[in-house]
Amino acid sequence: MKEKLDHNNLPEHIAVIMDGNGRWAKKKGAARVFGHQNAIEAVREVTEGCAELGVHYLTLYAFSTENWGRPKLEVEALMQLLVSTISNEVETLMKNNVRLTAIGDLESLPKSCNHKLKEAIELTNSNTGLTLILALNYSGRWEILQAAKKIAQMVENDQLQSSEVNVSLWENLLSTKNIPDPELLIRTSGEMRISNFLLWQIAYTELYVTPVLWPDFRREHLYEAIFAFQQRERRFGKISEQVKS
Ligand code: IPE
Ligand code: IPE
Ligand code: MG
Repeated sequence: MKEKLDHNNLPEHIAVIMDGNGRWAKKKGAARVFGHQNAIEAVREVTEGCAELGVHYLTLYAFSTENWGRPKLEVEALMQLLVSTISNEVETLMKNNVRLTAIGDLESLPKSCNHKLKEAIELTNSNTGLTLILALNYSGRWEILQAAKKIAQMVENDQLQSSEVNVSLWENLLSTKNIPDPELLIRTSGEMRISNFLLWQIAYTELYVTPVLWPDFRREHLYEAIFAFQQRERRFGKISEQVKS
């Protein structure tokens, strides 16, 4: 599948809703947490797969604002897993020249998570290969509200006129500032919804849903998604003849 890819038409930014860990575990007769533990290999595979191909940005939806509503034990396990995974993987990130960053309400994460995360972000800051963006305690609506509040404050403080509010000002207030919109969004486990992910940024993103559960997701599935993306005609509101010329 990798050979079939057009290397001149790779997405610059791929976003992934990593879904299906709980169902994967259930199928095996295990607790949901077992699914999360087995999700790490898939994270490794897509990260390395993207880095090898030369994709510039990979955003992984790891924990949504709404995920706090899950049973306490599951939330705690997810936070612990996050800390241990960052600790264990940071060496590999360095080896693969991957720069780690994160979007979401990071200040409201447990202290140990926030600390480990910031440490790894700092350590990998000078890497020049793939930028890996973890969406943690993230929701699209939260991000949009934050931006709206900042604009309101600037207007209140006479730092900004409402007539100066435009797309580029707005995008500079989002947590994805300086990151291009994803061209491709992959969701695993067959769910056909966005679940509060990158609401502004995916306006023209190509959506790809696969029934594969996240812990089973491997490089080959990534290549399949990119291949499917490359067969699409992106029209951005125009008509086919305009796009072709
Ligand atoms: C995705 O898998 C991981 C997170 C949301 C943290 P789920 O835990 O949502 O798995 P399912 O959807 O219940 O199978
Ligand atoms: C979306 O998955 C969030 C993450 C992958 C982190 P969910 O499992 O939380 O989404 P819903 O509840 O099925 O929409
Ligand atoms: Mg789910």
